[in-house]
Amino acid sequence: MAISAKTFGDTGTGMAGFKILAGNSNRSLTEAIAAYLGQPLTRCQVRRFADMEIFVEIQENVRGADAFIIQSTSFPTNDHMMELLIMCDALRRASAKRITAVIPYFGYARQDRKPGPRTPISAKLVANLITRAGADRVLTVDLHAGQIQGFFDIPVDNLFSAPAMVGDIKAHLDLKNVMVVSPDVGGVVRARALAKRIDAPLAIVDKRRERAGESEVMNIIGDVEGKSCILVDDIVDSGGTLCNAAEALLAKGARDVSAYITHGVLSGGAVARISASKLKELVLTDTIEPTAAVRVAKNIRVISVAPLLGEAISRTFKEESVSSLFD
Ligand code: R5P
Repeated sequence: MAISAKTFGDTGTGMAGFKILAGNSNRSLTEAIAAYLGQPLTRCQVRRFADMEIFVEIQENVRGADAFIIQSTSFPTNDHMMELLIMCDALRRASAKRITAVIPYFGYARQDRKPGPRTPISAKLVANLITRAGADRVLTVDLHAGQIQGFFDIPVDNLFSAPAMVGDIKAHLDLKNVMVVSPDVGGVVRARALAKRIDAPLAIVDKRRERAGESEVMNIIGDVEGKSCILVDDIVDSGGTLCNAAEALLAKGARDVSAYITHGVLSGGAVARISASKLKELVLTDTIEPTAAVRVAKNIRVISVAPLLGEAISRTFKEESVSSLFD
C-alpha cells in the first residue's frame, strides 16, 4: 500500500468543496486524519440539550460540498449513532452534494443475523438508518463480517488494517519464528489473510462458548510449540476470547503470545484483565479512541489508521481507486 504523508493538498485538484466533520466519538483520530489531509475541520457543534437530546449546528457553508463525517459508533454506541444520523440530516438539509459516513468502528456489526426466533438483525436496521439519514456512501475499517456491505444499498468501502499491522509486526517481531493464530474458527479468513502477508504458518483455536459472555478454549489446531504466536481478531470486547486463547497457546508450548486486534471495544474490566494476563503485548488500532486506562496499560500499544483513512478519503474525493490501496 502506497501511503505517503500529505498527498492530498498537493494534488492540484484543489480542496474547494471538501469538508471533514467530527462527531464526538474519536476526536484524536479525526484530527490525525485532518492533519494527514492538510485540511482544517469544518466548524460544527455537536452538543447536548439539558435533557441530553443531541443538537448539531454546522457553522459554515457546505452547499454543494463533498462532506465526510468521521464518527465511530463506539461506546456510548447509541449516542454516537444518533450524532452520526443527526449530522447526516444537518448536512443533507444544508445541501451538501455528497455525504460519506466514515465509520472507523461500525457498532452493532455483531448483530448481523438472527441468533434465535423473535430477535432483530440490528446491523441491517442501523444500515437502513444511516442511509435514510442521508449518507451517500460509507467508509469503514475491518467490518466484523464482509457481507454487512450488502445490508446497504449505497457504496461501502471496507478498508483493511492489515497493512498497518504488517508494518508493525515486521518492526517488532522476528518473522522467522512467528505463527499467526485465529482465536476462533470464525476468524480464520482474517487470520489467514494476515499470515499470507507475512508468509507465516497459521494455527486455529477451536473455542466453545458455553454461556453468553463467557468463552472457553477447547483445542489448538496446529503445532505452536516454541513459536511466537500472533493472535489476530477484529474485536476485543471483554478480553475473554483473547486471554483464554493466550493461556491455551502457552499451555501448548508457545514461546510467547502477542495480539493484533483492530477494534478495542474493551468493555467492563477488559483492560485490567488483559494487563493481568500472560499476553506479551496487545496492539490495537485507533478506530476506537483509546481510554486513559488503555494509554497507561503496560502491555497495550496503539497504532494509527489515520493515514489509511486519510488516503481513502482523499481518493474518494478525487474519484480514484480505493481498493488499489491494498494491492
Ligand atoms: C467474535 O466473533 C469477534 O470476532 C471477537 O472474537 C469477539 O467479539 C471478542 O469478544 P470478547 O473479547 O468479549 O471475548
